[in-house]
Amino acid sequence: MQSGSTACFLRACRRERTPFTPVWLMRQAGRYMPEYRALRARYGFLELCKNPEAAAEVTLQPVEKLGVDAAILFADILLVLEPLGIGLEFTRGDGPRIHRPVRSHHDVKRLDRVPVEEAVPFLFETVRLVRKALSDRVPLIGFAGAPFTLASYLVEGGPSREFLFTKRLMREEPAAWDALMRMLGEITAEYLNGQIAAGAHAVQLFDSWIGTLAPSDYRDYVLPYTRRVIQQLTPGVPVIHFGTGTAGLLHLMKAAGGDVIGLDWRVEIGPTWERLGYDIAVQGNLDPAVLLADVGEVRRGVKEILDSVAGRPGHVFNLGHGVHKETPVDHVTALVDIVHELSAR
Ligand code: CP3
Repeated sequence: MQSGSTACFLRACRRERTPFTPVWLMRQAGRYMPEYRALRARYGFLELCKNPEAAAEVTLQPVEKLGVDAAILFADILLVLEPLGIGLEFTRGDGPRIHRPVRSHHDVKRLDRVPVEEAVPFLFETVRLVRKALSDRVPLIGFAGAPFTLASYLVEGGPSREFLFTKRLMREEPAAWDALMRMLGEITAEYLNGQIAAGAHAVQLFDSWIGTLAPSDYRDYVLPYTRRVIQQLTPGVPVIHFGTGTAGLLHLMKAAGGDVIGLDWRVEIGPTWERLGYDIAVQGNLDPAVLLADVGEVRRGVKEILDSVAGRPGHVFNLGHGVHKETPVDHVTALVDIVHELSAR
């Protein structure tokens, strides 16, 4: 028998009725937490990710402190790209940098593919350590970047607003785009299946930046590759498919696959779910900025979402994107308690 939160989370992903709405938060382990900052004072970000004991400790911090109903592996979507020889660095304040971006067919050919087991062995070890420590109290969610979001970092060389290099490569060198997206899809499927084999109960595919695309471009240049990744995953493990700015893409994301669609706060959850169809579960969708306001506002925001969903089975509560580093920890604890209180049936 799986204990409370694990069973509740897995049932919600399968659209079965649950005693309360399970809640976890993207970036629940991170810089807003003093315990995380204390560890980060001793290790660089990549160093922390590559140290299984420390990464397991960070993964468990929010479970102990916040009472969330799932742990999310402490890692990063860009870790699998580092062994390609692209010069990945996390600079303080600026986020990730890729020193040798991929902008042509020649650049795609240059990438060194190593088997994922050899590339990120530390990560599978972290999964095993977390599973042992959790002993099924709450489920462990593994994750990966989806091919488009990974490609956008590789091509732009870092975060971007307009994704112009990416959109140019996609159109001007379709063969290079195809080769790159195929390779990233293979890596992603292998990487997620490795996390599942090591013990992840569910996986989330982050396609954080697809909201930059026209629907027809998503359909032609992205959907087939994401679909292939999801089709290759170990059956029976729930897949959460997430993006931001996706109001015009949700039907296409659903067609690409996944058991749960992750929604950001730019859509109204109830009517959006109705349009998407009740044959899929949904996750979301509080604006993470609400957590900067007082607890009364947090309560109001949670209530609005729960009212909109109206107790329909198949809702996992989350933010619409990650916790901001400026967030007061006690507001996050309050959020988790409020979701449990208002959704208890
Ligand atoms: O709790 C969790 O959600 C697990 C940990 C997690 C991290 N990154 C840790 C992290 C997860 C799920 C990610 C995914 C990730 N990484 C995404 C997809 C999710 C999203 O936010 O859209 C993306 C796009 C990345 C790439 C990345 N990593 C960026 C853009 C940054 C800088 C962001 C920032 O806030 O500065 C990172 C760094 C990063 N990844 C941090 C953490 C805790 C901050 C690193 C630090 O300690 O300095």
